[in-house]
Amino acid sequence: MMNIFDFTKKKQAGEKITMVTCYDYTSAVLVDRSDVDCILVGDSLAMTMHGFNSTVPATVEMMAMHTAAVARGAKDKFIVADLPFLAYRKDLGDNIAAVQAVMQAGAHAVKIEGAAGNTDLVRHLTESGVPVMGHIGLTPQFVHLLGGYRVQGKTEESANRLKEEAQALEQAGAFSLVMECVPTLLAAEITQSLRIATIGIGAGAETDGQVLVFQDLLGLNTDFRPKFVKNFLDGAGLVTGALNEYNQAVKTGAFPDANHSFNPERLAKPA
Ligand code: KIV
Repeated sequence: MMNIFDFTKKKQAGEKITMVTCYDYTSAVLVDRSDVDCILVGDSLAMTMHGFNSTVPATVEMMAMHTAAVARGAKDKFIVADLPFLAYRKDLGDNIAAVQAVMQAGAHAVKIEGAAGNTDLVRHLTESGVPVMGHIGLTPQFVHLLGGYRVQGKTEESANRLKEEAQALEQAGAFSLVMECVPTLLAAEITQSLRIATIGIGAGAETDGQVLVFQDLLGLNTDFRPKFVKNFLDGAGLVTGALNEYNQAVKTGAFPDANHSFNPERLAKPA
C-alpha cells in the first residue's frame, strides 16, 4: 500500500500516480485487485451514488459511511476521503469531529477544497497526525460562487491566485494536491514549482498523477461527458445488455435451467 511519502517519491522518480474515486464495497474490492495506486472517496458520491446535482448535499455521515464500506473492500490501497461542504469551515471542534469521523471510518488522509482560510487547519491536522491532500482549480463545493463548472486559471489574475494557493497548501503541510480543470500549461508550471505531487483531473498530462471518477472511467454515466473524461469501458452498454439478457432468459424460460436449480430431477419424475 502507498503511504504519503510515496507520492513525493513517485514525483521525484517521474512515475505517474493513478487515483480513482470509489464509494462502495463491491467496487472497492475490484479497485483493490487492480494496479491503480490509490482511492479517493470523493464527495462526488452525492452525485454518483445519491443522484444529487452537485456535491453540496454531501454530509460527514455520508462520507464516513461510504469510507467505511470502501475500507472494508480495499484493504491494500491508500484511501483519501473528502471532507464535505462546510464540514471544515466551522469551529475547530466541529472541524476535528468531521475529520475524526472519516479517519476512524478507515481513511488514511483527508482532502479539502481551496486554500484561503484553510491553511491553519491543514497545519493543525498535519501536526495532529492527519495527512491532508489539497484541491485547487475547479473546486466543486464552490459551484455557486464560481457560477458553474468552468475551467479555472484562464486569466493572469486567477492563474496567479492558483499558484499562490498551491504554494500556501504545500507550506501548510499538504502532502499532495488535486488540480481540477486548469489549463495544461498552468498545471505544468504549478507542478514544477512544487515539491509535493499534483494529481490532475482536466489539468492535462503534465501533472504528477491523474484521478478519474469510477463511473466516468467505466462509462457507467452516459449523461456526463466533459472533455477531460475518457471512458475506458462501455460500462453502461455492457450492464444494460446483461440486464436485457437476464430479462429475456427469464421470460423465455431459459433461466433458471437445471444447472442453476436445486434437485431439478424431481420435476422430471411423473407424479
Ligand atoms: O469528489 C471527487 O470526485 C473529487 C475528484 C473529482 C477530484 O474531488
